[in-house]
Amino acid sequence: MTAAPAIPKGLEGVVAAETEMSFINGQKGILEYVGIPIGELSAHSNFEETVFLLWNRRLPSKAELDSFTRELRGQYDPPAAVMQRISELPKDAQPMHVLRTMISLLALYDTTPNANDVASAREKSLKILASAPAIVANFDRYRRGEAPIKPDDSLSFAENFLYMLNGKRPTATMARAFDVCMILHADHGLNNSTFTARVIISTLSDVYSALTGAVGSLRGPLHGGANEGVMDMLNAIPSVDAAEAFVMDKLVRKDRIMGFGHRVYKTKDPRATDLQSLAKQLAEDTGNTALYEKSHRIEQVMEREVGAKGIYPNVDFYSATTYHCIGLKLDLFTPMFAMSRLAGWSGHLLEQLSDNRLYRPTVRYVGPHNQPYTPMDQRS
Ligand code: CMC
Repeated sequence: MTAAPAIPKGLEGVVAAETEMSFINGQKGILEYVGIPIGELSAHSNFEETVFLLWNRRLPSKAELDSFTRELRGQYDPPAAVMQRISELPKDAQPMHVLRTMISLLALYDTTPNANDVASAREKSLKILASAPAIVANFDRYRRGEAPIKPDDSLSFAENFLYMLNGKRPTATMARAFDVCMILHADHGLNNSTFTARVIISTLSDVYSALTGAVGSLRGPLHGGANEGVMDMLNAIPSVDAAEAFVMDKLVRKDRIMGFGHRVYKTKDPRATDLQSLAKQLAEDTGNTALYEKSHRIEQVMEREVGAKGIYPNVDFYSATTYHCIGLKLDLFTPMFAMSRLAGWSGHLLEQLSDNRLYRPTVRYVGPHNQPYTPMDQRS
């Protein structure tokens, strides 16, 4: 009998869809959105333009960008009934659970929640993307005992979020730093949460279900939840000098260092390179240089110890320091990833809907056959 072919564990290397959105070369550390290197976008674009690019697979004209930005801003304010529910949630709820629940709740206030033609799915995606900042910021305000703040549609996506969160307009530097984080996290091939969104929409379910499922996938510590794990680690290391012993101890115990390693990148994630510069600058500006230095020391030790195995910083490593310097609480880090990635998930579900076939892989059964049914009183 010939041996059954090996199943690539975790579907590593399996091509499960085509996309025109992002391209990754994990050996060379290249990430492009629609062919444009990520470093070009983080240097010159903004989040709104990046979303347009991902959804239309081309850069907008000035008039198109203005029109798209107006459309997004017009949807900043979620239905009042949804915002009212936020003030009924347990104050100790975790923001990722809140975001997941509220995206699901938005479906109840849509008169055509199941409309799945590409135009309707795009409208729903836009509404969910535009609503996410008000949901996350106002949940954080509510748990701090602060009154909710209405979105300000004269502000960009990034500015508006920081404005609602903090009750005052962000400085230009903070707004730009946050905008760059949004650009860098927007899309990344067929990562686990994007695959989840595509699998759900392929049943011709609905946009709300697909994006709710994607948020659930992202929060895992092996995926987007790693940025919170990085911050926990940095907090657990008392000083820059203690970083090396901390890492060595973890490696000896075969523990994972959060923010390192990637299924696709076998060199430094290009987003980590951009976020490192941002983290360094923000750390200097906000008196957090020790935090940056700790991160940098960890990176040096990891390169020396496991660089040969292709384990390098991923997007989550320096985003932790960046978000901390922007003033975000630890449990808001992963919701920030989700707020941006809603753009990528939506683009992927639109691609899936435009050429859909149900995802339905198969499984190899490896259990016994023809077993007797043993009555309950004869079971041991
Ligand atoms: N620290 C120490 N060793 C590691 C790490 C790490 N962070 N990541 C992988 N390894 C080792 C692992 O122990 C294994 O070693 P060995 O072959 O000796 O047993 C080898 O590298 C391969 O690991 P794997 O688990 O088979 O690799 P994977 O492709 O399944 O895992 C990963 C990818 C991201 C889950 C993993 O690198 C990891 O757990 N990293 C920490 C969590 C993290 O930072 N996640 C964020 C990923 S990037 C953002 C995103 O996509 O959400």
